[in-house]
Amino acid sequence: MSGGRVVVVGSANVDLVVDVPRHPAGGETILGGDLRRTPGGKGANQAVAAAQAGGADTTFVGALGRDESAGLLLASLDGAGVRTDVVERVDAPSGTALITVSPDGENTIVVAPGANSRVRVGPAQADRIAAADVVLAQLEIPLDTVLAAARARREGALFVLNAAPSRDLPDELWEQLDVLVVNEHEAADLVDGPEPSGAATPEALAAALLERVPVVVVTLGAEGSLVAERDVPPVRVPAARVTAVDTTGAGDTYCGVLAAALARSRELSGAARLAGAAGALAVTRVGAQDAVPDADAVAVLAEELKEAS
Ligand code: RIB
Repeated sequence: MSGGRVVVVGSANVDLVVDVPRHPAGGETILGGDLRRTPGGKGANQAVAAAQAGGADTTFVGALGRDESAGLLLASLDGAGVRTDVVERVDAPSGTALITVSPDGENTIVVAPGANSRVRVGPAQADRIAAADVVLAQLEIPLDTVLAAARARREGALFVLNAAPSRDLPDELWEQLDVLVVNEHEAADLVDGPEPSGAATPEALAAALLERVPVVVVTLGAEGSLVAERDVPPVRVPAARVTAVDTTGAGDTYCGVLAAALARSRELSGAARLAGAAGALAVTRVGAQDAVPDADAVAVLAEELKEAS
């Protein structure tokens, strides 16, 4: 699988992960397993997925500190074949995420952004963005940078926003979106704002979001995803049945592969099927970038899903 240029603009974090028997309540101390220190961050995870699982020519635009964590993160990106030549080194610690994972694979995450707060689109990054077919961003970096990335794309290129973690979006950013990818919680946050809208189903949430974005993808975990476009009936794309051991970064794998597929072809359902297959494979392994599957495995599972549907 090859073809298509993707630029991912976003965060990179070293994930400090502890397996826990259950997530602690406020004020509670519990004992967990041994600490794991692994490459993560929504942006870097998505870049690794676009390159390794999606087969796209992928550039990562991000910022790292001048610390040992930066070496771990660059090694993972480089190992996946991601271009890292426009990643900046800044005088701040590399991003860090504190993660707990319970036996059912669910996680909690707290991010200390560090260098991610300094991600910017300078001339070198803008040049690379202008050569991309798809520009993909998330919300662990400054909103001004996300907006600058969207504005730097060439005409005809797609700007895909994974609106995670949830934040209010300024009108100027809404106006730039070609594709919005959200889970159900993020969709509800964007639709409801301070006032609950009453939209409950993924279809209703997507319909509300379509008033502001031409294409909305709502990821539904084990239930697959919903792909919604204006003036076209929404399509449910089923997921593969797998046993989840760690869901960390599975949404990022989905987004990276979706972007890679859209860089090759604008066929949305097919892109969502590939992305869903990649996300399903990712939850069967421990870690974020460490769990990103290879493109061949993704293609095989996506084909099985197509035949079964
Ligand atoms: O989406 C998972 C990611 O969120 C983790 O890798 C962590 O670093 C946070 O950014």
